[in-house]
Amino acid sequence: MIDRINDLLKRVEEFRPKAAAEVEEFRIRILGKKGELNALMEEFKSVAPERKREIGQRLNALKTAAQERINALKASLQEAAESNSAAVGDMTRPGSADEIGTRHPISLVRNQIVEIFSRLGYTVAEGPEIEDDWHVFSALNFPPEHPARDMQDTFFIEKGADILLRTHTSSIQVRAMERSKPPIRIVCPGRVFRNEAISYRAHCIFHQVEGLYIDEGVSFADLKQSLLYFAKEMFGEEASIRLRPSYFPFTEPSAEMDVSCNLCGGKGCNVCKGTGWLEIMGCGMVDPNVLEANGIDSKKYSGFAFGMGVERIAMLKYGVKDLRLYFENDVRFLRQFESVL
Ligand code: DAH
Repeated sequence: MIDRINDLLKRVEEFRPKAAAEVEEFRIRILGKKGELNALMEEFKSVAPERKREIGQRLNALKTAAQERINALKASLQEAAESNSAAVGDMTRPGSADEIGTRHPISLVRNQIVEIFSRLGYTVAEGPEIEDDWHVFSALNFPPEHPARDMQDTFFIEKGADILLRTHTSSIQVRAMERSKPPIRIVCPGRVFRNEAISYRAHCIFHQVEGLYIDEGVSFADLKQSLLYFAKEMFGEEASIRLRPSYFPFTEPSAEMDVSCNLCGGKGCNVCKGTGWLEIMGCGMVDPNVLEANGIDSKKYSGFAFGMGVERIAMLKYGVKDLRLYFENDVRFLRQFESVL
């Protein structure tokens, strides 16, 4: 009898079915009511008492092994069948639509600014957000006592070591002048950081696009014409601009540029505070001190620079009244830009 038990155990261990149906057939043949195991159990009744213990144990072990083997085979064949059908999929199921993300309004406007200037031959330049005093202030002709160098306005990472978060993208101008010789014609988009209380019109993080053009014989008229082209492309053909004298350490002369209010068409409304004009950027001719500090011969070359806030342009373009909306990522706000561009 021991031989027959061993033989059956061997067949159980060596059983290699290809389909679940084969396993079921095998189960009935071995473990079924009229199966081989029950036949052995029947025979066990007439085994001599002194051998009952040993043969009983072997029979039990055989039963457990057969059950375990059959269960394991069933599970693995079923798993294989499921993954096969998953690969093909249920062809009758309705499809699930993929949700397509949309660009953030700040990205849309930044891309549009870059794209407009790229049509005038500008290429994109970038620089680090963590900067040093030289690239943010000194090379741009900021005097040592300038208030922007104060902790109140600038986030210093290491005060002693002059490591800080850039307060404007003008620092990329300096890096561009270090890297390449004129002619230089770049736009520099990026995030900037200022130690400001957050309100509807100010944030400690925002975005700027800086522009720089240096070549022989670049004039203020070139600056004005380039910016007029930009304003018309950005706000529409009917847009006009005006330049008001201003001051920046890195430009001389410096100006503030206004664009005609696109909401009231210049008649005056609460957005333009009744003036018909909206201030959108600073600009000017690159100060010769800046050219010289960056190794460019100011007798041979001249240039202009400009810098604008992306949030501000986006607010004016879309009529958004609170800057904080751009940072909250509330989908009800963001969805409104789905169809733009
Ligand atoms: N960097 C200035 C700011 O953050 C903006 C600016 C003004 C950039 C005049 C320029 C410029 O290049 O010519 O307020």
